[in-house]
Amino acid sequence: MNATLGVIGGGVMGEALISRLLAEQKFTPDTIWVSDPQASRRHYLQQTYGLQTTDDNQAVAAEADILLLAVKPQVLDTVADSLSSDVLSGTPLLLSILAGVPLDRLTRRFPGWSVIRAMPNTPATVGAGMTALALGRDISPEHQQQARLVFESVGEVIEVPETLMDAVTALSGSGPGYMALVIEALADGGVAAGLPRATALQLAIQTVKGTAELLQQTNWHPGVLKDRVTSPGGTTIAGVAELEAAGLRSALIEAVGAAYRRSRELGQS
Ligand SMILES: NC(=O)c1ccc[n+]([C@@H]2O[C@H](COP(=O)([O-])OP(=O)(O)OC[C@H]3O[C@@H](n4cnc5c(N)ncnc54)[C@H](OP(=O)(O)O)[C@@H]3O)[C@@H](O)[C@H]2O)c1
Repeated sequence: MNATLGVIGGGVMGEALISRLLAEQKFTPDTIWVSDPQASRRHYLQQTYGLQTTDDNQAVAAEADILLLAVKPQVLDTVADSLSSDVLSGTPLLLSILAGVPLDRLTRRFPGWSVIRAMPNTPATVGAGMTALALGRDISPEHQQQARLVFESVGEVIEVPETLMDAVTALSGSGPGYMALVIEALADGGVAAGLPRATALQLAIQTVKGTAELLQQTNWHPGVLKDRVTSPGGTTIAGVAELEAAGLRSALIEAVGAAYRRSRELGQS
């Protein structure tokens, strides 16, 4: 991309995006600047990726056409306060991945900038993420394209109105936590049925991953797949009947609902 990328906060998510953007040659190392307070972190990023690193947020923001804000949400004001009014009156594209921080707060802290709020999830760290984007006001098609390109480097991207961000957080943001429980429980079931632990975990992970890929590639409704794998009087329908009796579906629906309500509460606090 013919632009300079600044990253404020070179932690887990900042590195995930940087590593994929470089691997896919969307940026070259000389066009990426990262600021982070930890000297050891800066040294690691510089040595691993050949980037420019600094502890000076101002220097990074001044260089950037696209500025990725990848700090914890509670550090937002510290970061904004560390930027001079000169930098704040520029017009770069700000991409914020700060969970729960709304566009209007970002726009107040970075007046004049094009602001896009993004909600990636943890599988982004291995390039299998799901990111939802909520565009601020008056975003140009070029900035919209640049934002998509950045987050497509770590997985799939959708655009939603900001009012849906709490629902996105409750499903794809928190979903890896739900799926980790499902996989662990499946493996426990395998162990109870006599499988060695490592074998059970391998079977559980690949089964969940393979099922998701099958649904994605075929576009089948999940109910179609369930019907295809439940033969009359067979093993799968016996297992499905237990899951229904235990309320698996309503537990997952309620989990997303609880996470949605919590996300709204946190956004208002
Ligand atoms: N990880 C995920 O899966 C995920 C998913 C969706 C959204 N997010 C969002 O992504 C953001 C970053 O999460 P993360 O998991 O990458 O966190 P992280 O690993 O803690 O990274 C944040 C980095 O920012 C640095 N930092 C702290 N204060 C700073 C300052 N004033 N200026 C510049 N850098 C500063 C931190 O350094 P210190 O360690 O020294 O404080 C750390 O290296 C969060 O807002 C989170 O809500 C993360």
